[in-house]
Amino acid sequence: MNIDLLTTATYVVAALMFILSLGGLSKHETSRSGLVYGIVGMALALVATIGQMVVNGLGTPAGQTGLVLLVVVIVIGAGIGLWRARVVAMTGMPELIALLHSFVGLAAVLVGWNGALAPGDVPDNLLGIHHAEVFIGVFIGAVTFTGSIVAFLKLSARISSRPLMLPGKNALNIGALVAFVALTVWYVITPVLPLLIAVTALALLLGWHLVASIGGGDMPVVVSMLNSYSGWAAAAAGFLLNNDLLIVTGALVGSSGAYLSYIMCRAMNRSFISVIAGGFGIEKPKSSDDEEEGEIHEIDVQAAASMLSNASSVIITPGYGMAVAQAQYPVADLAARLRAKGVNVRFGIHPVAGRLPGHMNVLLAEAKVPYDVVLEMDEINDDFAGTDVVLVIGANDTCNPAAAEDPSSPIAGMPVLRVWEADNVIVFKRSMSSGYAGVANPLFYRDNASMLFGDAKDRVEDILKAL
Ligand code: TAP
Repeated sequence: MNIDLLTTATYVVAALMFILSLGGLSKHETSRSGLVYGIVGMALALVATIGQMVVNGLGTPAGQTGLVLLVVVIVIGAGIGLWRARVVAMTGMPELIALLHSFVGLAAVLVGWNGALAPGDVPDNLLGIHHAEVFIGVFIGAVTFTGSIVAFLKLSARISSRPLMLPGKNALNIGALVAFVALTVWYVITPVLPLLIAVTALALLLGWHLVASIGGGDMPVVVSMLNSYSGWAAAAAGFLLNNDLLIVTGALVGSSGAYLSYIMCRAMNRSFISVIAGGFGIEKPKSSDDEEEGEIHEIDVQAAASMLSNASSVIITPGYGMAVAQAQYPVADLAARLRAKGVNVRFGIHPVAGRLPGHMNVLLAEAKVPYDVVLEMDEINDDFAGTDVVLVIGANDTCNPAAAEDPSSPIAGMPVLRVWEADNVIVFKRSMSSGYAGVANPLFYRDNASMLFGDAKDRVEDILKAL
């Protein structure tokens, strides 16, 4: 059989696997099989692409050099990938994903530049389209590249997560888009190198500015938006490389990422357009990390244990700090102990608790907390009123009353877990510092709230001993 035909047939099967994978990953119960479909699809895609290169390339010296280079980069890349995947902590996943998106963006820029410098045999009547493909691929790739680097730096706390507020930032973004359209038209008519350099520089700056302008609270949406951009960048590269599977896969990633961002925006009561346009229309917040005035109430382990012993209903709301402390195991033990005593214990999970979608659900499942006591925010929010004790374990932004009550707060309008409506709230954290969004939390100063300072794992273990 002709190798090109065989490759195309394998690509069709791989594309189907990717679609089945997306379908599987959309539900808890089928996520494992979704993952397997994705791995099989990617393995088929790699084998078909490399096989085609081997068969077509062995005959010529250039082809042979290409194959040697291919083997070298695959070994190095796969080695680094395996090593990173083995050592990355669950809490480091979001920044790793952001970094991986930046590679897709960079690859699209390089493919675009290659398409401009070595266009190959493009028929004259398709040259205009080829030039437009080069320009669009480089633009999307470069925006994705710097945008993802800034997301990586913010998520890994290497730079502040606060939004950058340049004067006239919306005009800057719109100006960059208008300049891109004008440059594209110009390049299609006169394809000269300085224009390609100009659009690359413009897109690198735009990507950086778009993500730098977004505040910490909106970062989850940005990560999934960059996921979508990386898909479109891959699709653009697919057009230039004439690779159908790359086009299909890129479009799948691009559209599913955009849809996920839209769902997250709805869950966080944010405008989709505003977030993708780099916080368009969001004014500089009045209050941010300012010191919140008031008195806090500290509680010790003994008092917390006796409050729990006397409770008949308890809700646990975990957040990023539970992941940092790896406190899910003692938290699961505590829930089991209280349930064994007849206490009604449930978990309330905010859609963006932690640092990646489903972060808390994964940790609780790992610690064997039964699914039926783990409830989503919408399912449990009305039950806080009338609950005896709420344990806020390493959560902060996701339980911040300012989001519901202070219109000038940077996270105003974001739905939050209304923990403060319970009779008693115990907040587990190490200090009075703010959460990811950098916003002060008035919950800590409420009369019904008490702070239990220290590492969440140590404190929960202490309570287990005291019970
Ligand atoms: P955060 O608001 O980030 O607060 C986490 C809290 O955990 C901190 O205030 C910290 O206080 C505490 N903490 C850290 N280590 C701890 C430890 N070892 N023991 C006890 N406490 C510890 O968490 P959240 O409520 O889960 O909210 C998530 C935030 O991340 C939101 O702003 C969200 O928008 C953002 N975000 C989410 C995602 C996704 S998709 N989930 C992605 C990117 C960003 P101390 O330092 O005082 O201990």
